[in-house]
Amino acid sequence: MKKVLIIGSGGREYSIGYALKDEAEIFYAPGNGATNEFATNLDIKDYYELRKFAIKNNIDLTIVGPEAPLVDGVVDIFKEKNLTIFGASKKAARLEGSKVYMKNFLKKYNIPTAKYIETDSKEDAYKFIEEMKLPIVVKADGLCAGKGVIIATSKEEAKKTVDEMLSGEAFGEAGKKVIVEEFLDGYELSMFAICDGKKFVLLPAAQDHKRVGDDDTGPNTGGMGAYAPTPLVNDELYEKVKTRIIRPTLNGMQQENAPYEGVLFIGIMVVDNEPIVLEYNVRFGDPECEELMPLIDSSVYDMFYYGAKGELDKIDVKIKDVVAVGVVCASKNYPYSSSEPALITIDEEKLSKLNGHIFYAGVSKKDDKLMATGGRVLVCIGMGEDVKEARDEAYKIVKCVHFDGMKYRKDIAYQAI
Ligand code: AMP
Ligand code: GLY
Repeated sequence: MKKVLIIGSGGREYSIGYALKDEAEIFYAPGNGATNEFATNLDIKDYYELRKFAIKNNIDLTIVGPEAPLVDGVVDIFKEKNLTIFGASKKAARLEGSKVYMKNFLKKYNIPTAKYIETDSKEDAYKFIEEMKLPIVVKADGLCAGKGVIIATSKEEAKKTVDEMLSGEAFGEAGKKVIVEEFLDGYELSMFAICDGKKFVLLPAAQDHKRVGDDDTGPNTGGMGAYAPTPLVNDELYEKVKTRIIRPTLNGMQQENAPYEGVLFIGIMVVDNEPIVLEYNVRFGDPECEELMPLIDSSVYDMFYYGAKGELDKIDVKIKDVVAVGVVCASKNYPYSSSEPALITIDEEKLSKLNGHIFYAGVSKKDDKLMATGGRVLVCIGMGEDVKEARDEAYKIVKCVHFDGMKYRKDIAYQAI
């Protein structure tokens, strides 16, 4: 059997391992309290030590889940020893690590994106703000755990945000350069392409729900639920995304001497049927990955392996003709503060009759019992012939789960129902 090492610990990584478990023996670094039910969790943090483990244990393929190890260069470290690893190189990971790099890249290669300036000068930012219509979007350059984007509804607020970022007060070094850009009014999509440097496979489009509360209220989170494929995307839009965004991105990255390998996550705003790039991420979305993995009908191992090898032309990635809806169950105080660990109970009998899965994220094991340890605890994935059927199934799965303080949105996939 093949051996796969997965770096990460969230629901995204759980779903990747779960999709691979019949094809490979799985190791996680570090994994979580539920991944060790079908895999081996490793307590190795240092990338060089992890590389030693991969060599010693004949790991066939390493898959990197989150952005931080990619930005740190884990792919480069593994490749120095000719290991097969799926993910973006340190150089390519700048597409996510620096918004200034990303925006300048988009401009250079004529890829549609919101009008902007990037600057470290307060005067220049103020001047641009004066010329703009409201609302105005202000973004910190670096990684700010999803908090670096402010949509200002007045010019004063936009200027104040610029001040707080440039002074280092808001995000330290990550805010020492800012992007000020026009607000795009449309609907948002998450699109994912598996890339091998030159070629790509575009997966079905998903929609995420970033706000913590129903009707998109309250603060932003990592995502409270998602569904895929969304019927809001037709063939024409997929074609535009391929030809106007992904193809020029791969060509551009080759020209920049940073060929793009790994998952390219394109945050898209659709305005008047035109896809416009909001941002790139160099990893799968979480919870979008959890809906996409169960849709894949061909070998998941091959998809990642041939992606990492630069040989995507050798395979045909098949997608099931069904819909997946994922509802995140989060801890009581998410996303404000941590929560007390709580025992998770699952009605296994009821669950076994439903069409879907539970993918675990913020969990640990205590005396062989599964505990919710905070944040986004787990994702209930319902499958169905259409969005409504999958949504109903997902909420039936939610009803099989209990832990103290559990909260979830009641309106996942509302955009499509
Ligand atoms: P980002 O991290 O750049 O994706 O921004 C986070 C969120 O802010 C996005 O998912 C959008 O909902 C919103 N956003 C970012 N840029 C814009 C923009 N130019 N116009 C409208 N909304 C935006
Ligand atoms: N769900 C959005 C993200 O992973 O950034």
